[in-house]
Amino acid sequence: MTHQGSNREYIEEVRQWFLEIDKLFKNQLNENNSPRLLEKINEFSILLESLDDNMDLELLSRLKSNMESLYNEGLLMMSEQSIDRQTDYRRVKIGEHTLPPLPYNYDALEPYISEEIMKLHHDKHHKSYVEGLNKAEKMMQKARETGDFELIKHWEREAAFHGSGHYLHTIFWNVMSPEGGGMPSRYLLTQINKDFGSFDRFKKHFSEAANKVEGVGWAILVWAPRSGRLEILQAERHQFMTQWDTIPLLVLDVWEHAYYLQYKNRREEYVNNWWNIVNWKEVEHRFQQASKLNWKEY
Ligand SMILES: [Fe+2]
Repeated sequence: MTHQGSNREYIEEVRQWFLEIDKLFKNQLNENNSPRLLEKINEFSILLESLDDNMDLELLSRLKSNMESLYNEGLLMMSEQSIDRQTDYRRVKIGEHTLPPLPYNYDALEPYISEEIMKLHHDKHHKSYVEGLNKAEKMMQKARETGDFELIKHWEREAAFHGSGHYLHTIFWNVMSPEGGGMPSRYLLTQINKDFGSFDRFKKHFSEAANKVEGVGWAILVWAPRSGRLEILQAERHQFMTQWDTIPLLVLDVWEHAYYLQYKNRREEYVNNWWNIVNWKEVEHRFQQASKLNWKEY
């Protein structure tokens, strides 16, 4: 291979790199988030125009490796930015949940719900869920720091009870409005018709489910991504070791049928071994999808 031949190949490779960089970073990086990277990219584009076959091979190879590292740096920055964007927006620090304000006045839902109820419900009940959740989160954080998980069952229960209370009430206030009532618009209505037969049937089913919740709890219309359908659920109380309005990412079955034949009552051994087979790629995929939901944080 002649000297010029190798030069040409290098130049071609460098140009390819630059095209990749340009394609990848266009629209992603801007003056505000990555001024230094942008400047570098501009420098390269000017340099590229002045490249010719007679250029020193060593210089070209240095240029190419610079461009490779620029590419990697850009990739890293983009992934960091996207994580920052997601977590910045919605991250509530441990133990720092806040009571969301009512989106209307206390008396706005009268005569259907009285001002007195709204005040008590929001200011006292919801607030105590927020406080209970904060406390449980802090205690679980403490357990992680000290390694003392003696009371973990208690705090998990508290987190479930108060967490569901906080999240569900946050939804509840917002799914009501003084200008509410009537029917949903076509986008949701089409799905309701598909999954429940008609709006009236949906309404009847939902009301019956609400009327027949044993003791205290909720009627909840959910979207089940797995079945691609709407469904109506009852949540008796709401704290059965879950937090409604969260999305499962990693689950471990500890029903006896999952391990007893092999491990008998040695559940700890099963749990311990299980970590060897966790498919993080799938967990990451679920996280990626789930973290696209962009709801205001409280
Ligand atoms: Fe309530």
